[in-house]
Amino acid sequence: MAQTDIDALTETEAAAELERLSHVLGQANAAYHTSDMPEISDAEYDRLKQLNAAIEARFPALKRGDSPSDQVGAAVAEGFSKITHAVRMLSLSNAFDSEDVQEFDTSIRKYLGLGAEASLAYTAEPKIDGLSLSLRYEQGKLVQAATRGDGEVGENVTVNARTIADIPQKLTDAPDVLEVRGEVYMSHADFAALNARQAEAGDKTFANPRNAAAGSLRQLDATITQARPLRFFAYAWGELSKPLAETQSEAIRRLETLGFQTNPLTACCDGPAELLSHYAVIERQRATLGYDIDGVVYKVDDLSLQGRLGFRSTTPRWALAHKFPAELAWTTLEAIDIQVGRTGALSPVARLQPVTVGGVVVSNATLHNEDYIAGRDANGAPIRDGKDIRVGDWVQVYRAGDVIPKVADVDLSKRPEGSEDYVFPTACPECGSNAVREEGDAVRRCTGGLICPAQAVEKLKHFVSRKAFDIEGLGAKQVEMFYDDPDLPIREPADIFTLEARDGGNLNRLKNRHGWGDQSARNLFGAIHEKRRIGFGRVLFALGIRHVGEAAANLIARHYGDWDRFEVAIGAATDTDGPDWEELIGIDGVGAVMAQSLVNAFAQPAERASIDRLVAELDIQPAERPRIEGSPVAGKTVVFTGTLEKMTRAEAKARAEALGAKVSGSVSAKTDLLVAGPGAGSKAKKAADLGIETLDEDGWLALIGAG
Ligand code: IVH
Repeated sequence: MAQTDIDALTETEAAAELERLSHVLGQANAAYHTSDMPEISDAEYDRLKQLNAAIEARFPALKRGDSPSDQVGAAVAEGFSKITHAVRMLSLSNAFDSEDVQEFDTSIRKYLGLGAEASLAYTAEPKIDGLSLSLRYEQGKLVQAATRGDGEVGENVTVNARTIADIPQKLTDAPDVLEVRGEVYMSHADFAALNARQAEAGDKTFANPRNAAAGSLRQLDATITQARPLRFFAYAWGELSKPLAETQSEAIRRLETLGFQTNPLTACCDGPAELLSHYAVIERQRATLGYDIDGVVYKVDDLSLQGRLGFRSTTPRWALAHKFPAELAWTTLEAIDIQVGRTGALSPVARLQPVTVGGVVVSNATLHNEDYIAGRDANGAPIRDGKDIRVGDWVQVYRAGDVIPKVADVDLSKRPEGSEDYVFPTACPECGSNAVREEGDAVRRCTGGLICPAQAVEKLKHFVSRKAFDIEGLGAKQVEMFYDDPDLPIREPADIFTLEARDGGNLNRLKNRHGWGDQSARNLFGAIHEKRRIGFGRVLFALGIRHVGEAAANLIARHYGDWDRFEVAIGAATDTDGPDWEELIGIDGVGAVMAQSLVNAFAQPAERASIDRLVAELDIQPAERPRIEGSPVAGKTVVFTGTLEKMTRAEAKARAEALGAKVSGSVSAKTDLLVAGPGAGSKAKKAADLGIETLDEDGWLALIGAG
């Protein structure tokens, strides 16, 4: 059906056609996913899907509740559609012992300026080991469900979520907009029964309930999700048109009244001692709960205090996950292999006689670095009482949650006779270049740079990873395959974007090889093309420059705003006495080590040329500044000095940054505003000399509307 035909449709015809399409596409989906025997070609599937979307675009009111556009089964070719979270979905910082919990309480008190004696209530509840889900209700109706994804953009799993009995479809007496967040999980009994059914049917079984829950929710065919026994606990919220309550504990009770399952082991605790005793209560019940939990989550109870505490880049200051201790097992170390990472780091990996640690079979574990193997820390002090680790040893393997398993200890009484010291290589096992250890670096690194294939491949894997370019259909496996492709190699990031042109635009070379069909090749080119337009922070993170992680890349992007300005400034920052270097290290969160690594990457000719080739292929979007609507201090550089009385320095700084200001530690000609409390000394004088506006604390609070 051509666009002209769509334009000519009557409403009744359109409704009938949408019904037909929903049926045909639904069947095609089921055939594809349940029997692995597609009934129609990918191309025909896509054509029908586009037709459906075009009719819906002309008749939005006729869009069906079961529209194939939402049933991202649509996504046979594309995967799930994406949803940008109205409020980011964050993770939690972790604690592993009671000292960490004490420190959490202390730092909150410090941040809020509360004395050790002031009462400070928390909630404590089990940390459910499932996957988080955000449910959006508008006027009491469930309109959207999204997985966490990268925290900013998740997958649209609305149709699937509707099949979960614990998730209400309608709410009464709810705020007009309410996003409920919580964990989808599977009980032990349901998990065992599901695996038994899967095994019987010859289908794949799942390693643990968490994987089973994730695999079941992320089904392109919602009928499969429906057949899986998923559950949901609500424990948090996102966007709200009206507050739920004044405290965390009341808000949870409110969610319960609205019809959500909330965890019965949630308790209110006054201070760290009570938190720790509730932790012990939950830990004792862990084995008999019937579902997996991996720790206890503590949250400040008072929501206005939560608001004041706010967030670090990816975690709230007001919450903490106190993890259960790691699981341990003993096994034989069969070999030590060396892997080369994207920054050239030589990482020793233990190949183990497979052993089950906390329900998961482990056959590889990290040995960190050469000092760790030798039984000493980076300063030469003994670790493990100085015991070294050798091939053939009987070693203890340690696993904590998502953390990569590591070799923690060795039993010398079981050491085989004639075993030899492990000699760490001084040449890169991949490219033969010298592997050197610079002073102060715990790690030995390959000096091969771009000529080292291992580094290049790892850099590419990082480049396409989820938090970087996240190109659908181009993951770690495909990158490895393309790297060695004789015809269409991808050796550096820019090559990804020239792939289609190099293929001659006619898919001739890519298709029919390595399992690529016509449609999948077309999809890949489409997915690559989609990522040409990309945010500054992502590009910088994707380059994989040593020390420049995701949070730092975003900080830097926000500081410079657009790529061109950044490139010029970073080029000029090679002069460590000049203003551009000062500006770079003046960014809060950027230290000299990171700054130097960044400057080096852009100053090294081969690396710079590779970056330039990439940038020429992209349309880099300026970095969004934080929410600054109506902010009087957006873009201004502010310095705090002297004693602040109404808030702590940390709080003042975090607030100013949230309003789009840059907070600097020293006064210079670039300073726009000095906030001076009592006792301000040389900074106030310097500001006065430079004619910089100076406010006291009350003046500052009035300026930002918090007075
Ligand atoms: S609160 C702003 N409470 O743990 C943070 N998270 O490691 C909101 N999780 O992404 C999360 N049980 O998926 C919270 N009782 C609980 C939780 C919980 C499990 C998960 C959640 C989060 C992850 C962080």
